[in-house]
Formats: sequence, C-alpha cells, structure tokens
Amino acid sequence: MPWSGSFARCGLLMTSWTVVLLLSTEMKFQRQSATEPNLEDVESTYTTSTIVNTSNTILPPAFTKAPRGVAVCIAGNLRTFTVPVVFSQIRPFHEQLWGWTVSFFLYGTLEGAGPKNQTHRNLAAIHETNQTALKMALTSLRPQAVELVANAEDVTEENLAQYVLHQECFRNIQFIESVDGVEAFFENRVRFLRGLNQLAHVISSLEMMMRFEQTRGRRFKVVILTRPDLRYDVNRNDHDWFRDVAWVPEWISNGSVALQMDHWVAMPRALAERFYLLGKVLSCSPSDKCCRKIDRSESLWEYLTGAVHGNFGQCSCSNITTPFRRAKVAQIQRTKSTK
Ligand SMILES: *[C@@H]1O[C@H](CO)[C@@H](O)[C@H](O)[C@H]1NC(C)=O
Ligand SMILES: *[C@@H]1O[C@H](CO)[C@@H](O)[C@H](O)[C@H]1NC(C)=O
Ligand SMILES: *[C@@H]1O[C@H](CO)[C@@H](O)[C@H](O)[C@H]1NC(C)=O
Ligand SMILES: *[C@@H]1O[C@H](CO)[C@@H](O)[C@H](O)[C@H]1NC(C)=O
Ligand SMILES: *[C@@H]1O[C@H](CO)[C@@H](O)[C@H](O)[C@H]1NC(C)=O
Repeated sequence: MPWSGSFARCGLLMTSWTVVLLLSTEMKFQRQSATEPNLEDVESTYTTSTIVNTSNTILPPAFTKAPRGVAVCIAGNLRTFTVPVVFSQIRPFHEQLWGWTVSFFLYGTLEGAGPKNQTHRNLAAIHETNQTALKMALTSLRPQAVELVANAEDVTEENLAQYVLHQECFRNIQFIESVDGVEAFFENRVRFLRGLNQLAHVISSLEMMMRFEQTRGRRFKVVILTRPDLRYDVNRNDHDWFRDVAWVPEWISNGSVALQMDHWVAMPRALAERFYLLGKVLSCSPSDKCCRKIDRSESLWEYLTGAVHGNFGQCSCSNITTPFRRAKVAQIQRTKSTK
C-alpha cells in the first residue's frame, strides 16, 4: 500500500507525525446502485453563511458532474479503532446500509486526551502507538485519505481567538442539563477546549473530503460525520439489525438528518456545507440567538445542523430547523478488550 511520508498541515498543528494516504479514486470493490434517490432539489434549500470569511474556506469549484455517493468523515481519537470488532465493521455497515459507493476519510489523533471527569462517562485515555495494528485497521477500512496526528490539541487557550470570534458568547452559558449539577458543561474551560478540538478534527475531516471532491470534480450526495471508536454490530444475530436503520437512506434523501447523538450524524451534502462554514470559525455573536446557549457538544451540533442531537432537551440555538430522527447504529467501544 502506498502509504508513507510526512507533511505538515498549515503550520497550525504541532504534529510530530502526520501520515497521508491517498488511494486511487474510483475503487473497484465498491458497489453502485442504479437507484440513488435524487438529492438535487434538497441541495438548494439550504443557505450558507455570509458572516464567515469565505476566503478562508475552500471555495467550491464548478462541479460539472452530478453529485454521487456517500462520504463518511471519521474524526477523533483512535482509542479503540484498532480493535478488530471496531475497524472491520465500519465499511460493511455503511456499504450495506446505502448500497452505494461509500468513501471514507479519516482524521485520527493518536494520543488520547485526559479524562473528562464526567460522572459515569469517564474514559481513560488510550494512546495508539501500535503501527502494525494501525496498518491492519487502515487496510480493512480502505479510506480515500487518512491523516494521523499525534496531538489532539489544535485549539488551546492561547489560540482560541482563531476559532471563536466572540468569546463572551461562551461565558455564563444557559444550560439545559448539567453533568455535575452546577454549571453548563462548556463553562469548564478544559471541557470547552475539548469540545472545540473535537469540532476542529471534524472540520479537518470535512476538508479532506472537500479536497477529494475537487480532485474528482464531483460532490458527494450524503455526508456522515462520525468517530473512529464505534462498534457496528452488523453481525448481531439476536435481532434484525438492518430493519432498525433501513429508513435512513430515504430519510436523508428527503433532506433530513439521521443521528445518534453527536456520535454518528448523516446529512445531505448541502447541510454539511453549512456545518463546515459555521464550524470552521465560530462566529456566534451577541446579536445571534446562539449566544450563551451552546452549552455542550450536542448543542454545538444543533447550532450547526438545526437538528437536535442531545437526548435530553435542546438548546434552540440554531437559526434553522432540520427534521431529524434518532438512529441506533453503533456503540462506543470503550476498551481494547472486546469483552
Ligand atoms: C443564521 O446564522 C448564521 C450564523 O449565526 C448566519 O451566518 C446566517 O446568515 C443566519 N441565517 C439566517 C437565515 O438568519
Ligand atoms: C478574509 O480572510 C483573508 C485571509 O485570511 C483576509 O486577507 C481578508 O482581509 C479577510 N476579509 C475580511 C472581510 O475579513
Ligand atoms: C480532570 O481532573 C484532572 C485532575 O484533577 C485535571 O487535571 C483535568 O484538567 C480535569 N479534566 C477536565 C476535563 O476537567
Ligand atoms: C500490535 O497489534 C498487533 C495486531 O493487533 C498485535 O498482534 C500485537 O501484539 C500488538 N503489539 C503490541 C506491542 O501491542
Ligand atoms: C420521503 O418523502 C416522501 C415524499 O414526501 C415520503 O413519501 C416518504 O415517506 C419520505 N420518506 C421518509 C423515510 O420519511
């Protein structure tokens, strides 16, 4: 496999190791269905932001070919990605669900962030250093592009102004549900920075997808944003698993969002454009309804997509409303052991 070499991204990341893997664009192992639902009408119904300085974004070239296929953008810490029940099911799950060409883009961090100190949800940091295991997992996933970076901290207290224009909108935050009963989750600076880093990684994976679209002169129809440590129990025999999610492709083709919190979010390509433009630099200002209302990651996602991602309550912080439906697609694999 043609993977090796290192390259520095934008000078923004202090990465000690970045690997880029580009596989050939039209791969033979992918199935293509003749009956893709038509997304053309859907794509024109979203307007993208005018506040964001678009010269800092990837400008869409004139795409001559009709949109096609599903892009799965996987971003986050590679904690349990290398466990076989995790990596081996990612491609089969998405291919079976859609029956379309599915392309994967992986932006993975190797060093786990510290504990979240969140009641019942504290995951110990797992560092992924085993290159043999990583190669095996990547060979199975066959992504179109992969970037692996050592450090998960793009956003720090020092460079925060590059990512958040109006910091006052992220202080004294109104909250829906508190983890520890006293304040909004994002009121804690460490958690806020962690949430911003999660977003920065998702944005990086979207940029990988957009570069690929430019290269092939064609946009995707559907974009899925997800994380690398989910276990898709495709082979579960206690239950007709596909029946539970069979509605998802048509639902997305109708312009809506299917989601499992902020773990797995499927959306039309045009909505991913909004996500990207609003998420690359948070421009939420005191005159916007989002100000002091983005209290945690699920609310940030709600702001960006207009769909409610949290299981308990909504922030009502987005200026669009997108129909959404919850999907039960996978579980977080928390340990390296598969028990
Ligand atoms: C929605 O909000 C975003 C950013 O907060 C802004 O760029 C956009 O113009 C707004 N759209 C409408 C229709 O108000
Ligand atoms: C947009 O960003 C570019 C490059 O960072 C900068 O040169 C330009 O002045 C910015 N424009 C506005 C309107 O802020
Ligand atoms: C969790 O607690 C440790 C030890 O007190 C601290 O260093 C770390 O910053 C905390 N993390 C968060 C996300 O609050
Ligand atoms: C690295 O991963 C491979 C494949 O999973 C495994 O066989 C090997 O024992 C691992 N090595 C270490 C040092 O953990
Ligand atoms: C998609 O839209 C069509 C036409 O409005 C409707 O008949 C169908 O039930 C919708 N599908 C889903 C999954 O909501």
